[in-house]
Amino acid sequence: MCGIIGHVGDGNALETLLTGLENLEYRGYDSAGVAIQNGSGIDVEKRSGKVEELKEAIDDPLEGDVGIGHTRWSTHGPPTDENAHPHTDGTEDVAVVHNGIIENYATLKEWLQAKGHEFTSDTDTEVIPHLIQYYLDSGLDNEAAFRKAVEDLEGSYAVTAMLSDEHVLYAARKGSPLVVGVEDDEFFLASDVPAFLEYTDSVVYLEDGDVVVVDESGVEFTDLDGNPIAREPETVEWDPEQAGKGEYDHFMLKEIHEQPTSLAQAIEGRIDPENGRIALDGFEPGAFEEIDSVQLIACGTSYHAALYGSLALNQAGVESTALLANEYSVAAPPVDEDTLVIAVTQSGETADTLNALRQAKSEGADTLTVTNVVGSTAAREADDALFIRAGPEIGVAATKTFSSQAVMLTLLAQRIADDAAGEPAADLEALLPDLAAMPEQIEGILADSDAEWIASRYQDSRSYFFIGRGLGYPVALEGALKFKEITYEHAEGFASGELKHGPLALVTPETPVFAVFTGEEDEKTLKNAEEAQTRGAPVVAVCPDDHRAVEVADAHLEIPETDPDLAGLLANVQLQLVSYYAADLLDRPIDKPRNLAKSVTVE
Ligand code: F6R
Repeated sequence: MCGIIGHVGDGNALETLLTGLENLEYRGYDSAGVAIQNGSGIDVEKRSGKVEELKEAIDDPLEGDVGIGHTRWSTHGPPTDENAHPHTDGTEDVAVVHNGIIENYATLKEWLQAKGHEFTSDTDTEVIPHLIQYYLDSGLDNEAAFRKAVEDLEGSYAVTAMLSDEHVLYAARKGSPLVVGVEDDEFFLASDVPAFLEYTDSVVYLEDGDVVVVDESGVEFTDLDGNPIAREPETVEWDPEQAGKGEYDHFMLKEIHEQPTSLAQAIEGRIDPENGRIALDGFEPGAFEEIDSVQLIACGTSYHAALYGSLALNQAGVESTALLANEYSVAAPPVDEDTLVIAVTQSGETADTLNALRQAKSEGADTLTVTNVVGSTAAREADDALFIRAGPEIGVAATKTFSSQAVMLTLLAQRIADDAAGEPAADLEALLPDLAAMPEQIEGILADSDAEWIASRYQDSRSYFFIGRGLGYPVALEGALKFKEITYEHAEGFASGELKHGPLALVTPETPVFAVFTGEEDEKTLKNAEEAQTRGAPVVAVCPDDHRAVEVADAHLEIPETDPDLAGLLANVQLQLVSYYAADLLDRPIDKPRNLAKSVTVE
């Protein structure tokens, strides 16, 4: 997730671009940059760090009324000055900003290099200005060169390009957001409305496949083939203060709703269309074939994702354990060079997890981190890194990073099993269509959930219990952690079969039990839920509509049918919503729960 801004109109573009970038920092904050037409060429200022640092660095203001800007959340290449956007083709002719992932960038880059193009960054984006220049050199005009370059891109993009010889911006969208702001003869392009809300509230939301050409006289909306399309401006009524949250009252709710996109990004380009196997950047086929066992180390919500990954590995036939990173120094299982130790950490900066990672590395294990932050300490110190691409998460309670970690680890589990066996993991074929359907299924849950009603029905309870079996167990733990974190009410998660080994003593009519059904031995989970119900506890079944648990339970949160490897993640979305609405009823400071911090950098 990155932020794009573009400006065409009277007056100096620089101030508008910098204001836009500050307003978009919630979409990315590891690097920032601007490019402005100066009359004869394009000036670019960019660097790693926040927009504030970019502002301080511009001592000689760039002059010009057409420009583009970008704030970055890295997915390819660490946050360095070279990797910051805008990118050019090495001349002052073309500048480009991009949000999304170009899946075929490696092939395009190789092809362009063979034609003499020189690259200076590690990003996927840099292929775009080079492609545009290539088509200009082969005789196309500016617009045709832009369209042809966009046609070559596979993956997702919101892209805006500027050429030095015209007062025009070209932009295209597929899979990443892009909006146009209109104010008399001034026009804006941005990833999101808050970028320009100070200047205009008149907005056109672009759709996938749209291409726009913006100059001082107006905006032309077309499809990729150049056929005109109708797009009408809408008036937004947000208060600029609230704008980063869009239509949501809290970042947490916004981030819960971002999961269809964040999960699509986590999966994007990671399944090889040719052979249906898991393709991970930087890992050749067979990369994990020497691995005998896997240890996953993490804390808090990331530990629940690690447990999810560990269970998925065990189910795929790979020996694995999930361990709390803060316990690792006192009781780490032995490691050798055939042990893969995976540090699961959304921030990449958690002290407990880094210490455990360092210990495993010093003892000779092969190390890998699964993280959301490209330049993080974990990403730099582990032997390898896989990025979950969830974009920045502002709410202290992790939501979209948990689901992206769990999906990334599910893919990794299949890949490790595949490498160990030398053939595609047995259940991969069944999993792939459900994985592809998951973003849309989550959209369906978000559009039609009973979570708010259920939160209010049980709001006066004494304790809240969450149970699940197999991959439903880490989801139950995560459901309880989320609930206690943001409501300050007591909540516990258990493996369903454990209820009768002690916790049942706590069960009363004032302790609702949320039971997660994933399709793995559901009859047993239902029996455990009924044991609680017999003691008076209301049972909320999280399962598909035609599940037997619906008849037995006191209330139901519906999830669509899917593979048992993924059902828990759909259930998790319902549980996130229950926690959110329960906390909202109690008027808690949801985005900043008391005593908690987003990144815990002390032991
Ligand atoms: C809870 C939450 C925390 C973090 C934990 C580890 O909502 O976010 O439990 O998961 O502090 O943080 P990371 O993942 O950054 O290592």
